[in-house]
Amino acid sequence: VIGTGFMGLAHARAFQAVSTTFPVALRPGLRTMADLDAGRARTVAGQVGAERASDDWRAAIAGDDVDIVAITTPNGLHREMATAALEAGKAVFCEKPLAANLADAQAMAEAARTRAHANQVGFNYLANPAVIHAKRLIDRGDLGAIRNARLVFDEDYMADPTLPHSWRCRGDMAGAGALGDLGAHALSLALYLIGPVSEVTATARTPIDRRPTRDGGRAPVENEDIADALLVFTGGQTATFSSSRVALGRKCALRVEVFGSDGSLAFDQERFNELEVCFRGDDGPNGGFRRILTGPAHPPYGAFVPAAGAQIGFGDLKTIEVYRLLQAMAGRGPSYPDFAFGCAVDAVIDALLRSAAGGDWVKVDDTVKPPAPPSPDAEWAALPDARAHQ
Ligand SMILES: NC(=O)c1ccc[n+]([C@@H]2O[C@H](COP(=O)([O-])OP(=O)(O)OC[C@H]3O[C@@H](n4cnc5c(N)ncnc54)[C@H](O)[C@@H]3O)[C@@H](O)[C@H]2O)c1
Repeated sequence: VIGTGFMGLAHARAFQAVSTTFPVALRPGLRTMADLDAGRARTVAGQVGAERASDDWRAAIAGDDVDIVAITTPNGLHREMATAALEAGKAVFCEKPLAANLADAQAMAEAARTRAHANQVGFNYLANPAVIHAKRLIDRGDLGAIRNARLVFDEDYMADPTLPHSWRCRGDMAGAGALGDLGAHALSLALYLIGPVSEVTATARTPIDRRPTRDGGRAPVENEDIADALLVFTGGQTATFSSSRVALGRKCALRVEVFGSDGSLAFDQERFNELEVCFRGDDGPNGGFRRILTGPAHPPYGAFVPAAGAQIGFGDLKTIEVYRLLQAMAGRGPSYPDFAFGCAVDAVIDALLRSAAGGDWVKVDDTVKPPAPPSPDAEWAALPDARAHQ
């Protein structure tokens, strides 16, 4: 695992948890935690039970006993690390956004295609059983023809103007701002649930345009705090989209609503064990949205707990992602969401930024096509049914 911050720890825990949660064909062991900060690498390696710590990521991935490289460093480092790992014959689990710019993302998707090793991007919200159930309802036609959607991801982690400047404010290390950190997740849900995006128009703003540096100075913020947009999908559907990292009071407000001719659904990551649905016929005087609480009927929820409503957590989504990666490595499933998918998300972000700069509708670069999403029923059919143990 390269990087030992927020995501490095989340990945390490998921690699430790996966084989006690799922019937894995391959049982991973944690070899090395790598970070620029050697002391932190050592501390985290001890905490998560990794065999080694390193301050040199190239040395860390070179070992013959290393089969999977997890990349949890700032976005601008993903390309070099991922392509080196793929060239060394390793499977790669890279955090989102795939890269800090579209050219890097395209190069990574191409490297993954030619090397053909399992590759996955950390769009953890696609691993949520409630989101997988939403996909099941859409694929089954329960919502009828999909017409439009609302896509929002707001947080307030940078709402405080005294928060110091960091890699997240730098064009070279982060690329986009709110769009890369948050909007990328909302776009991943849009691509998974509805399909590719063809055209966008957007605005972007940075109300907190300078932040204090650790040496007492102030440095410019090089990317957007807020983006608002309209999207058109290749299937003709439309969506409003917005993302902010300075939305005071919002903690993890990833909200998606999908409206079809025969039904609607609404998902909110702040209540992520629930899915709200309304079908034609549910809309009389006492009607409206009703709440589905996820449980073992919504795989892979039952791998964690056999009781509906008991609820799973953020770390469990990471464990599901690692399981998907291991399944792909064992030839038991597709790598999804893979680097081509991550590149398709970055292509939408690139179009949003071009539109925000030029003030017009912009076409999304579709050089790299996203793969078809796996069928929810087919993907999870082989898992033991946790309801049998209730
Ligand atoms: N999937 C999610 O929900 C989610 C959430 C947060 C962050 N992310 C993504 O995860 C990645 C990391 O974000 P974070 O919040 O963990 O950041 P972070 O700042 O908490 O951690 C990044 C780590 O990378 C290390 N690092 C930097 N350069 C390095 C190098 N050359 N070699 C080795 N280590 C290096 C840093 O020392 C730090 O420990 C980003 O791509 C971010 O977009 C994803």
